[in-house]
Amino acid sequence: MTIWDKIYKNYQKGGPAWATIEGRILPQFINFLKFNKFNIKHALEIGCGMGKYLVILKELGFKTDGIDSSITAMQMTKNNLKDDSNIILADMFEYEIPKNKYDLIFSIFSVHHGLKNQVKSVIDEIYSSLMSNGKFFITLPDYNSSKSWDTFKNNKDLGNGVFTPLSGPEKGLPHSFYNRKEVYALFNKFTDIKVELEKSGKIVHGNWIISGKKL
Ligand SMILES: C[S@@+](CC[C@H](N)C(=O)[O-])C[C@H]1O[C@@H](n2cnc3c(N)ncnc32)[C@H](O)[C@@H]1O
Repeated sequence: MTIWDKIYKNYQKGGPAWATIEGRILPQFINFLKFNKFNIKHALEIGCGMGKYLVILKELGFKTDGIDSSITAMQMTKNNLKDDSNIILADMFEYEIPKNKYDLIFSIFSVHHGLKNQVKSVIDEIYSSLMSNGKFFITLPDYNSSKSWDTFKNNKDLGNGVFTPLSGPEKGLPHSFYNRKEVYALFNKFTDIKVELEKSGKIVHGNWIISGKKL
C-alpha cells in the first residue's frame, strides 16, 4: 500500500481530509480551461486523486483519462465519473504514456512527490504525449515557501530543494521544490509558458502554477 493509499483509506474511515482531498478547486485551472481551445477534448490527469477535476472536464465534454498510484483513489475516481473513462493504477514515474494522444495533460499538487530527476522524466513524458498544439497545466511547490509549510517543519533535507517529512501522513515521501529559474528550465521544450505563484486575493500560497503548450 502506498503512503497516499493509506491517506485515502484513512479519509474513507472518517479521518482528516489531508492536503487536497477536500473539495477545493483551483480557480486558475477553471480560468485556464476558459481561455484555451481544445481540438479533440481528450484530457489526462496525472495524480488524479478522487477525480474532482476529471468530473468538471467530463461535464465540459472532455474524454477523461487519469493515472494514480493509489487503488483507493482510483476506485473513488471511477465512482465519481460513473463512466468507462480510462483510469489507470500506475506509478507516474514508471508509466509510459501513449505518445501524441492528448490535447490536455494536467497535474495538480501531484508531480512533485518524488526526486527531481523523476519529476523531470514525467514532464518529458508529458511533452511526448501531447499532440501538436496540446496544452498542459501543472503545479509545483515553490522553494522559498517550503520553510513555512507545516508538513516540512520537521524534515530531512536531501539537498537540491528536495525534502522528506519526518512526521505526519506523508512521512518518508520525498517532495521536490523549485525556484522560478528551475521551473523555466524544466519546461524549456514547451512554448507559450506562463508561470505564476498561486494567490487568493493578497495571500500568496506556496505553489507555482505553470501552463503552456507543445508547438
Ligand atoms: C495531493 S493529491 C492531489 C490529488 C488531485 N490532483 C487533487 O488536486 O485533488 C496527490 C495525488 O498524487 C498521487 N500520487 C502520488 N505519488 C504518485 C505516483 N508516484 N504515481 C501516481 N500518482 C501519485 C496520490 O495518490 C494523490 O492522489
